[in-house]
Amino acid sequence: MPEPQSIDPSHIPHHVAIIMDGNGRWAKQQNRPRLYGHKVGVESVQEIVESAMELGVDVLTLYAFSTENWKRPEDEVGGLMGLLKNYLQKELSRMLKNRIRLTCIGDIQKLPADVRQVLEQAMSETAQNDKFILNLALSYGGRAELIQAIRGIAREVASGALTASEIDEELIDNHLYTAELPDPDLLIRTGGEARLSNFLLWQASYAEIYFTDVMWPEFRKEAFTQAIIEYQGRERRFGRTSAQVESG
Ligand code: IPE
Ligand code: IPE
Ligand code: MG
Repeated sequence: MPEPQSIDPSHIPHHVAIIMDGNGRWAKQQNRPRLYGHKVGVESVQEIVESAMELGVDVLTLYAFSTENWKRPEDEVGGLMGLLKNYLQKELSRMLKNRIRLTCIGDIQKLPADVRQVLEQAMSETAQNDKFILNLALSYGGRAELIQAIRGIAREVASGALTASEIDEELIDNHLYTAELPDPDLLIRTGGEARLSNFLLWQASYAEIYFTDVMWPEFRKEAFTQAIIEYQGRERRFGRTSAQVESG
């Protein structure tokens, strides 16, 4: 039997981003309503936040609700918003205790006022925490993010504060919701689909992508560790050749 592979603690991805997919299908397999899948999915969120911290990941971005998810039935959207509010209220004390900073990306003006209020409160109370960043993508869409960035840049050019030739990668980075965050090193999608669904379109351009059939409610520490082990076996070439990468 081959030795089970283990994690190299000196080579942990700084930023892991996860498309948490498969709650509804998992619930259906259990003959339960979709919302039950979302509820159990919250337990996966708690376990993965803990595992990521333990392993030494610095930033974890979780895709919790997309701009497209507003098209779901009203009761499912309401149920998800309720779970989000509940999660934030319940986890705030743990975030403070573990020095987790909560941030978010997305058009949060679209969230119901009570959810937004709890979210803003949690972000402001944890703003000084420096051990770990939990970044929630809420009402997030990569295209909407690019549109607001381009509009911001266009206004600066129109006002004369900036010339078109000054637009470069760094400037665009600085106009995205993720301005303060490094690009994701590892992007995981659970639930068996192999697509990005409008997630981090700009930022993921050199992320290592890991797709797994495991449904989000069953994606726990062991599965997460497996994803990191696979990441550690990849060679990130960024356009260069293997020989160039090996010679540093
Ligand atoms: C992911 O699970 C959660 C959200 C998108 C909010 P889904 O609800 O998409 O589950 P499936 O894909 O229908 O199984
Ligand atoms: C992506 O999952 C969005 C989130 C996980 C929040 P979806 O289930 O909404 O994606 P599609 O519609 O199958 O592409
Ligand atoms: Mg889905």
